[in-house]
Amino acid sequence: MATRRSLLFSSFILVLLAVCNGQKPSTIPSYIRVCKQSDPNVENCMIDSIESLRPYLVRGIPEFKVPPIEPLNIKSINANQGSGFRITLTDVKAYGCSDFTINRLKLDMRTNTIDFGLNLPNLYIESNYEVDGRVFLLPIRGRGPMRGNFTNCKGDVVLRGALEKRGGKDYLKYKSMDIKIQVGKGRLNLQNLFGGDRTLGTVVNDAINANFDQLMKELKPQIERAIANFMLDTANQIVQNFPYADLFPK
Ligand SMILES: *[C@@H]1O[C@H](CO)[C@@H](O)[C@H](O)[C@H]1NC(C)=O
Repeated sequence: MATRRSLLFSSFILVLLAVCNGQKPSTIPSYIRVCKQSDPNVENCMIDSIESLRPYLVRGIPEFKVPPIEPLNIKSINANQGSGFRITLTDVKAYGCSDFTINRLKLDMRTNTIDFGLNLPNLYIESNYEVDGRVFLLPIRGRGPMRGNFTNCKGDVVLRGALEKRGGKDYLKYKSMDIKIQVGKGRLNLQNLFGGDRTLGTVVNDAINANFDQLMKELKPQIERAIANFMLDTANQIVQNFPYADLFPK
């Protein structure tokens, strides 16, 4: 009895390992909607295809080694201004990325370029921060947890790909991704500034929020790069597995 049970248990583990270890599907799974090149509404089809991946992106797609986007994890972001101000955010978790909507999409099949716009209505961020230097004339120093809310974020994304031959077949590979983000409104809270001095902490948090747009401008290039890398990897982890002719049939 005990051996049978342990046998059952070990085969269960084997199956689990096979599933989790990313046995890559050799045919396109049904949750990926394929769009035909000849479809007169191919651009709407692509929008639907990306939006219908949402629940899979939320929890991640292990068979393609795509990590969950809820929350989206970014290891570190730092801005190091010549002005003598340095801020580093580590272990950044962004909640709300899966509420994206795609407001426009343009496809150029000749150059394998996709140009699209994203809306993110609400983002909530948790991270650790370390800051040192002068911000808006105030000397700031501290490290600790940071939280933030961002509303009405928009992203403009250009994804450029090329076809590569493998085993006599064409495969799509995205080579670069450019993203430009805009943040509508934001509010940050840095805890433990000046080693936990409450009054100074409140004053500086208020100053930061009063100058939010300016701080955002400094952090933006790094945030854009981190998101672009994540999205480029995600797109390639999926498309690299299937011949172009299957992914985008004529
Ligand atoms: C973010 O929003 C939540 C919910 O509305 C609120 O409780 C929290 O205080 C906000 N945080 C900041 C830093 O504004």
